[in-house]
Order: sequence, then structure tokens, then C-alpha cells
Amino acid sequence: MPFVVTEPCIQCRYTDCVEVCPMDCFVAGPNFLVIDPDGCIDCSVCVPQCPVQAIVNAAEVTSEQAPYVALNARLAKAEGWTPIRLRDTPLPEHAHWAQVADKRHLLPA
Ligand code: SF4
Ligand code: F3S
Repeated sequence: MPFVVTEPCIQCRYTDCVEVCPMDCFVAGPNFLVIDPDGCIDCSVCVPQCPVQAIVNAAEVTSEQAPYVALNARLAKAEGWTPIRLRDTPLPEHAHWAQVADKRHLLPA
């Protein structure tokens, strides 16, 4: 199973994860980032890079994280979402949003 990016990434987007991926499978949108499941080889090296523990194995998601499996697959192919290979600056106010648990409503429908 691929790894997936979950809710803590929303409005933070630290991007520490992207540079370690050997398959370049991260895809960025305005306020979130996802993993393209077609490229992920399940190596897990991205997991410890994320300062907010947003990356999990799709086979080990909680019930709350479960919708993010399909969401990663869908947004990885969505219009306007583009591959990202180099670290970028975190989003403004990331420190605030890192403390907020309920952020799903801030993503595109
Ligand atoms: Fe890339 Fe490996 Fe993370 Fe998959 S698990 S996104 S291949 S670093
Ligand atoms: Fe998001 Fe964590 Fe990467 S916040 S951009 S999954 S380092």
C-alpha cells in the first residue's frame, strides 16, 4: 500500500518530505500536498521528515484518516495540482495551523 498525506499537512505544507522521495511522487496544491499512489514504492523514508506526522501508510490509517487514501489519489491527478521535488517555504501561519486538528473543510471539495 502507498503512503498518504493526512490532515495535519493542511495549511502547513512544510515540504520537508519532498526532497527525500526517490520516486518524486509528491504533488502540491494551494494548501496541501499529496502522494501519487501510482509512484509510491512504500519505502517510508518520507515519514520521519514531516514535523507534524502527516504521512502514514495507507494500510494503517485510522477511521478518521481513511478518507485521505482516496483524496491523495484524486488530488494527485487534479487540475492545478503539480509535482513538487524541491523544498518550499512553509505556508504563512503554519505554526498556528499545526495546532489545529480539524482542517479538512479547508481543502477543495
Ligand atoms: Fe516517496 Fe517513499 Fe514516501 Fe512513497 S513512501 S512518498 S516512495 S518517500
Ligand atoms: Fe505536509 Fe509534512 Fe510534507 S506538513 S508537506 S506532509 S513535511
